[in-house]
Amino acid sequence: MTTETDQLSETDARAAVTGADATRYFKEKEKSGAAVSQERVSAVAGAALAALHDVIREHDVTYAEYDALKAWLIQVGEDGEWPLFLDVFVEHVVEETVNKERGGTKGSIEGPFYVPNSPNLGADGTLPQRDDEPGTPLDFGGVVQSEDGTPLPGATVELWHADDLGFYSQFAPGLPEWNLRGSFTTGEDGHFMAHTVQPAPYQIPHDGATGAIIAAAGWHAWRPAHLHLKVAAPGHQTITTQLYFEGGEYLDSDIASATKPELILAPTPKADDSGVEVTYDFTLAKA
Ligand code: DHB
Ligand code: FE
Repeated sequence: MTTETDQLSETDARAAVTGADATRYFKEKEKSGAAVSQERVSAVAGAALAALHDVIREHDVTYAEYDALKAWLIQVGEDGEWPLFLDVFVEHVVEETVNKERGGTKGSIEGPFYVPNSPNLGADGTLPQRDDEPGTPLDFGGVVQSEDGTPLPGATVELWHADDLGFYSQFAPGLPEWNLRGSFTTGEDGHFMAHTVQPAPYQIPHDGATGAIIAAAGWHAWRPAHLHLKVAAPGHQTITTQLYFEGGEYLDSDIASATKPELILAPTPKADDSGVEVTYDFTLAKA
């Protein structure tokens, strides 16, 4: 990080900076991409273009609108906002399609802010956070098990989420590198326990091209508060998912369309009133 960035605070996050970071991470990431056949490219790219042609005909799109589209597409690229835009508006259908036959815990979108290799905290640990980390303390634990209910020791639970202002470390300035990001390894009983704080709702950066189309259409830019998770165990299919909070704002109007009724937590106050606690068990399908 540059010295200049170090002097900024998280509320100085700008779409172009967040987008550039998300684009850089995506480029560095190991892609699942197998070679795609010419037949498949022709079928999928051809159908996507045909769908666009239908929209143009159906809505009598003008040259002014066509030029506005070109200008907007150029801007999304210049600000590095493709990961943000695609993960908000498209990824949920990919997730639904890819996982439609998989058993076990429901998945949800990964989003643009996953960073691999977060600090491992064992079976029970506190996510890296600032001394004065704002937000309600949250104890979140559970068991990772296979579909027949056998607990899975040595499973990995990766957890990452926004802070109490709705910002993610490594994508908003001024936050410690691994703030509110960590990995757990389940113990002999398949159990893990994470100590963290409740995240706030997340607003898509709204000063860039993605924000411009949201504003121009009169939509809102919010996602409900959520935890991101990746749960993996040898011999099982990895689950990428999110968990939400009962009664949370925007649960029914998530801009990323990524909520599911099975993924809603209902934390309760801890006996000593020091925060809230909740359990959630993950079930992994065999690979
Ligand atoms: C985006 C951000 C998120 O935190 C998320 O879960 C999904 C999408 C985004 O800004 O694109
Ligand atoms: Fe998120």
